[in-house]
Amino acid sequence: MKLFFKTKSLLHSIKVSLVFIAITLLIPVDSFGRIDGGKVYLFAYATQKKDNKNGLHFAWSTDKLNWHAIGPEYSFLKSDYGNWGNQKRMLAPILLRDKNGLFHCLWSLNEEDGVFAHAASTDLFNWKRQSYIPVMQAKNSGNVMFVEASSSANENYTISWISGDKKGDNGTVYTTTTTDFKNYTETKAGNKTDRKDARESIIISGVTVQGTINEVEWSLVENLIKNMQSAKFEAEKNNTSAKGDSELFAGLRDITVKIKVDASKSKKISNMLTGIFFEDINYAADGGLYAELIQNRGFEYDLSDKVGSDKNWTHRTAWIGTFSIDSLNGIHPNNPHYAIIKNNFISNDGFDGIPVVAGEKYDFSIFTKGAESVAKLIAPNGIVLAQTTIKASPSWKKYSAVLKPNATVATAHLEISTKGETALDMVSLFPEKTFKGRKNGLRADLAQTIADIHPKFVRFPGGCLAHGDGLDNIYRWKNTVGPLESRKPMRNIWNYHQTMGIGYFEYFQFCEDIGAAPVPVLAAGVPCQNSKVGGAGQQRGIPMKDMDEYVQDVLDLIEYANGNATSKWGKIRAEAGHPAPFNLKYIGIGNEDLITDVFEERYKMIIKAVREKYPNITIIGTVGPFYQGTDYVEGWDLADKLQLPIVDEHYYNSPGWFINNQDFYDKYDRSKSKVYLGEYASWGNTVYNALAEGLYLTAVERNGDVVSMASYAPLLAREGHTQWNPDMIYFNGTEVKPTPNYYVQKMYGQNPGDNYLYSQVKISEDNPEAAKRIGISTTTNNATGDVIIKLVNMLPVALNPSIELQNIVPKDQDKYKDKVTYTILSGKPDSKSIQQTSSTTFTTQEALSKPIPAYSFVVIRIPTQKELKK
Ligand code: AHR
Repeated sequence: MKLFFKTKSLLHSIKVSLVFIAITLLIPVDSFGRIDGGKVYLFAYATQKKDNKNGLHFAWSTDKLNWHAIGPEYSFLKSDYGNWGNQKRMLAPILLRDKNGLFHCLWSLNEEDGVFAHAASTDLFNWKRQSYIPVMQAKNSGNVMFVEASSSANENYTISWISGDKKGDNGTVYTTTTTDFKNYTETKAGNKTDRKDARESIIISGVTVQGTINEVEWSLVENLIKNMQSAKFEAEKNNTSAKGDSELFAGLRDITVKIKVDASKSKKISNMLTGIFFEDINYAADGGLYAELIQNRGFEYDLSDKVGSDKNWTHRTAWIGTFSIDSLNGIHPNNPHYAIIKNNFISNDGFDGIPVVAGEKYDFSIFTKGAESVAKLIAPNGIVLAQTTIKASPSWKKYSAVLKPNATVATAHLEISTKGETALDMVSLFPEKTFKGRKNGLRADLAQTIADIHPKFVRFPGGCLAHGDGLDNIYRWKNTVGPLESRKPMRNIWNYHQTMGIGYFEYFQFCEDIGAAPVPVLAAGVPCQNSKVGGAGQQRGIPMKDMDEYVQDVLDLIEYANGNATSKWGKIRAEAGHPAPFNLKYIGIGNEDLITDVFEERYKMIIKAVREKYPNITIIGTVGPFYQGTDYVEGWDLADKLQLPIVDEHYYNSPGWFINNQDFYDKYDRSKSKVYLGEYASWGNTVYNALAEGLYLTAVERNGDVVSMASYAPLLAREGHTQWNPDMIYFNGTEVKPTPNYYVQKMYGQNPGDNYLYSQVKISEDNPEAAKRIGISTTTNNATGDVIIKLVNMLPVALNPSIELQNIVPKDQDKYKDKVTYTILSGKPDSKSIQQTSSTTFTTQEALSKPIPAYSFVVIRIPTQKELKK
């Protein structure tokens, strides 16, 4: 069997080597006639595939006759302009090289916007930040097509383009000039004769493409080929699966793992490693964690919430009946719309029905004006479950009552009827049993499921939601505090509506209720780079004239959280019921932003102001949406320059990436910023995904001296209203459905360490692929004195551990006869459910050698003498 396994693994290695050799053979080394000085021609182009979203491609030639595509559809540079879905396009790029050898790529972004893009690179593989130059802004119209550039002797570049015609045939020529591709002169009308028609047509793989030709060194092309190959090789390597594993490890027998843990070799790690990322995505807030049972309670849903894409999404959404909507003399300017019923009724069915439990109390409230009305909770079969009468009132008046349904129903509705004319607004129904019994509180079952992770921090309110879809959609914390009817609802970047019922007060309160540090994330003065509103994404940063006010908002938030109850903003917190400060220590500035000049200017301004006024607040910076690439590199450069204490990294990837990159943080420079891994997840909710995350987290713990915090994302998703998958916890109106990924988070959250103990691991198989799928992390917890061993087995065979603890004194002093807590998560790798069992029946001795089944994650907690033997 063993031999068979080895043969398999050998075959695999041969296969990988053959692929390498085959790829290498495609590169002619020096057997062709290069042009002068060892140079070749490089053709830069884009195709129309995927609606022009495949980015910049290259092909090379020695004679301009035979062209060799590098890739062929490999994207060496992708446009990051505009929203996901229909933007991020690159049209008709041109490539030129300046006298310093720096390449400049210019391209059109779409057929509408008066903007062109620029990015520069020395090696054509690593690109510096992109900029989008709004050259037609002053003209107030006109697109920018077929950009080209010509230079005079002094490197003054004239950029020209054709505007007004999508094909570029009949448009008007405009020009601008630049010497540095940062500053551009005012746009002028030009002339067709100004254009030298830089593009040429060549045939690649039988297809004609247009692009620009540069003479470049062969070594540069060779590097492009190698980089492209290694990126493709990486992608292939990371394409693992449970099915693939059973092939890869066919014949593999149970593995013996000898582990020596030595407490004399340890390092201090962060005790805040597991936290949660909360974003109102997938109905996580309204219709989710926020316990409000009425949907569209303020009649403020609007066509614009979904950018007009759903004609049924209006002020009337979730309501039926005969009623009109008005906005004259509403209850508050921030909440202008209300409904009017005349001798009729109006009914709301909440979020997929209103779930109520017999005998429980529900707080009903409403603002009405006009005739007396009656509110009834009604079951689907028409039976009235509870009711109350709302007195007539000549002006807006808030009425409250407690409703106690006489039956349990999952999909009730709330009906309000009148025999005269009644205006109504802010119709609300809350279970009294919210999390910790808070008014305007959180759904108890969901909040408890989150609390059970024992998160050390909560990041909120996003994600992309924090910086929003366009300038007007940036999340403004001041709009989310105060009486509910005065909060300013807003469309949600995920294309629905946020009532702001959960606002900054509720976030801080939740953190306090679960003993987690609040980590608010605020926009860095720019909206989301994926904005669809406002054209140029975040390039329309908050105008500089308004930035002082924005910076003040950021400072005011810190006062709101920490100021004493007599300070301007501390008073507002105190009036909301929390005179004591919330003890805010962290603040995130920016969320995976595109690092541009517009961003940098505003980011620095905010950071400077916070540092000056609140030097004790730890600022968390941003380094883009991936673990590599331009924003990651530029974000880290900025963090170095600004000496930021922590930066926020994000990556969503295949489980194979997590398996193959366990050394990601071992490579990090310990003298630089610490890392908050603010968003991560492997693509899926199977046991295989969860274990890949668990495995990776053993490496994160090992690097807990550089990684300070980590949070899986996204957290919540309401079934049927999900914009993003996978998520950690799914739910509907009555059920909470934690995923295997959740249980892994809970295992880490409930078993945090403060010190990492080094261990020596020897396995009985000489197989690096198998070794990678075994994870171990041993820590000690200062508060309890426990030694915590985490073991992940991502293999289709069992592990037989033999764990030796050195320099650790067991609590009983009696050779590990004490009972330990032994928790195991296990499941079929393709399954979406996982079993968790916890037992305290084993002694330390038994636990240290207990076989670990295939595809499982074990945590052993060993009580020890607090003082470890030196
Ligand atoms: O977690 C979902 C989204 O992923 C977040 O809003 C954003 O920051 C990231 O792109």
